[in-house]
Amino acid sequence: MMLPMPFRTIIEPFRIHSVEPLRMTTQVERERAVRAAGYNLFGLRSEDVLIDLLTDSGTGAMSRDQWAAIQHGDESYAGSPSWFRFLDSVQELFPFKHIIPTHQGRAAEKILFTAVAGPGKAVPNNTHFDTTRANVEFTGAEAVDLVVAGGDDLSASHSFGGNMDIERLDAFLRAHPGSVPVVFVTVTNNSHGGQPVSLANLRDVREVCDRHGVPLFLDACRFAENAWFIHEREPGQQSREVRDIVREMASLADGMTMSAKKDGLANIGGWLAMNDDEIATQCRNLLILTEGFPTYGGLAGRDLEAIAQGLHEVVEHDYLQYRIRSTGYLGDALVRLGVPIVQPTGGHAVYIDARRLLPHISPLEYPGQALAIALYETGGIRSCELGTVMFGRHPDGSEQPADMDLVRLAIPRRTYTQSHMDYVVEVCGEVATQAADLPGYRIVEEPPMLRHFTARFEPISSAEEGPPITPT
Ligand SMILES: Cc1ncc(COP(=O)(O)O)c(C=O)c1O
Repeated sequence: MMLPMPFRTIIEPFRIHSVEPLRMTTQVERERAVRAAGYNLFGLRSEDVLIDLLTDSGTGAMSRDQWAAIQHGDESYAGSPSWFRFLDSVQELFPFKHIIPTHQGRAAEKILFTAVAGPGKAVPNNTHFDTTRANVEFTGAEAVDLVVAGGDDLSASHSFGGNMDIERLDAFLRAHPGSVPVVFVTVTNNSHGGQPVSLANLRDVREVCDRHGVPLFLDACRFAENAWFIHEREPGQQSREVRDIVREMASLADGMTMSAKKDGLANIGGWLAMNDDEIATQCRNLLILTEGFPTYGGLAGRDLEAIAQGLHEVVEHDYLQYRIRSTGYLGDALVRLGVPIVQPTGGHAVYIDARRLLPHISPLEYPGQALAIALYETGGIRSCELGTVMFGRHPDGSEQPADMDLVRLAIPRRTYTQSHMDYVVEVCGEVATQAADLPGYRIVEEPPMLRHFTARFEPISSAEEGPPITPT
């Protein structure tokens, strides 16, 4: 439990024990590096990045106690004590009957949707994350986003802007009887500004699912951050422990997918959990095909130990207060500079509204990509486009502007200090002053799905003059 402090400054509830050097680069070096990477920041060598805000997934710092737990890793193929420690930690927060370990979140998604989705089926979610959508669509099913009305309004302040739209969910389930194998709620809503979902909304989703006889699953990657927002913002929740709020969230669901690379505070790992015996048996059989035996599922015993310890740490109030406040610190500073962001700031990231910052670049010339490249070239900051590059290509091959063109500055857990964030703010301010001069981009090469990972781009204004880009 957090002790009240008489001072305003919220400090990191840890001190640094081991450090990693950062490599300084010049703007010319970065321009060369990003050009060689086909203007795709996923293609950079991470040593050429100064502040890496590409993702908060698996990029955080583990604690002393997690590293110590790793020494207890037991690598027995079946029934290792590390598995049982992992199982106990997971079930303490998420008391589902079946816990199926996977190497990361998307493996859990792939297994679940292979078992329950398929052609003619549809999976509603508040907002699908990219891998979730891809795994649903890969089975031939439709992935439907039903985020609450008003959640799209970037300038509005919503306490729970990640909520599911209950009326649209009800109408959707009424219109598609028998074709929805599962309803998903993503907490926090990563593809929608990292906004949280309230307990009241989860209760309403549960009630609608019960009425239609459809199971409810959580995409729970950032469950602790979501629970902290509930603790802070939802009426009547302030005196509750976060771990109790998490248990209530779990009690409203029939299962979950999880990437332990987020709120497992680990560098790898995940799980699939559920109460249904029959589907769990199917999923375990699929797990054995691709991930491994059900007591390790694609993870080493030491990974299971790191996650087990991480789950104890992630629900600590001191940690969550620091975590959410440090994200808010970056968001508040950008707002003061006049940089348009999704408000209020989400839990794990700040999302810059690139469409608003770069109104001269049309969505099909990828304003988010343009901004992300400028942040890298100017200050060595690697961010991630969440917009038309990520969501614009549809399964029928057509391309349309995404609902929003955002650039996500995702903050790895326990990794960067306040002065790193002050530097990020300074670079964003500099890029904002040059916004009108930034070029749009076109795609010169893309895969059939999840194109943002490997597509290659060229700037539109200089494409005709410059030499063609040679793939590396
Ligand atoms: C909401 C959400 N769901 C699923 C995933 C997939 O998890 P993983 O990257 O571990 O496969 C992510 C990863 O960022 C995510 O943010």
